[in-house]
Amino acid sequence: MPFDLLIATRNPGKLREFAAIFTGLPYRLRTLDDLGIPDEVEETGTTFEENARLKAEGYLALSGLPTLADDSGLEVAALNGAPGVYSARYGGVSGAAQLEYLLAQMRDVPWHARLARFVCVIGLARPGHSTEFVQGTLSGVIETAPRGSGGFGYDPLFFLLDENKTLAEVPPDHKNRISHRAAAAREARVVLERWQAEGLL
Ligand code: IMP
Repeated sequence: MPFDLLIATRNPGKLREFAAIFTGLPYRLRTLDDLGIPDEVEETGTTFEENARLKAEGYLALSGLPTLADDSGLEVAALNGAPGVYSARYGGVSGAAQLEYLLAQMRDVPWHARLARFVCVIGLARPGHSTEFVQGTLSGVIETAPRGSGGFGYDPLFFLLDENKTLAEVPPDHKNRISHRAAAAREARVVLERWQAEGLL
């Protein structure tokens, strides 16, 4: 009998990414919409871990099911880790204007000091246990102009030194293998395997 696991997202792309990495595990992945949960748990934390905890524990309370929730964002070294947990609303704008805003903040920063990373923290909550956290990162450099049309968010400005391309220029299936979210999901898989082995679900 598979165990139900709530993937606390409304993003079908994320659900597909998690499903691909959790193949073969005896979990039936459920979404908020599958369970008819309209509530939004607010991301009021100041760290990725706080937000992942708020969502994992909040949706566990709403559903009664073991719950996985992720929080991610971009950390730029020259900006002391900004935009971090505020990545989605950085500069109070979105889309191309947000890329322009980031570029303006980085205008005087030389190439060698433009190091950045994407971070994804996943919280895994189950009834009667402490919430567990895993993390994945992807390192790169902030470009001086956007390049590529794939991906979303900051991808056109995120230059991968190993690939000599931005994250918006690599094929989606490749991004899904190297991304911060994929790295965190592979760690989450280890936790889910342990939960199963413990029989404590
Ligand atoms: P979320 O926590 O996955 O919703 O991500 C929050 C924000 O971080 C997004 O709105 C994007 O601005 C940024 N972000 C997270 N992951 C990525 C990515 O893979 N590429 C580009 N931007 C990302």
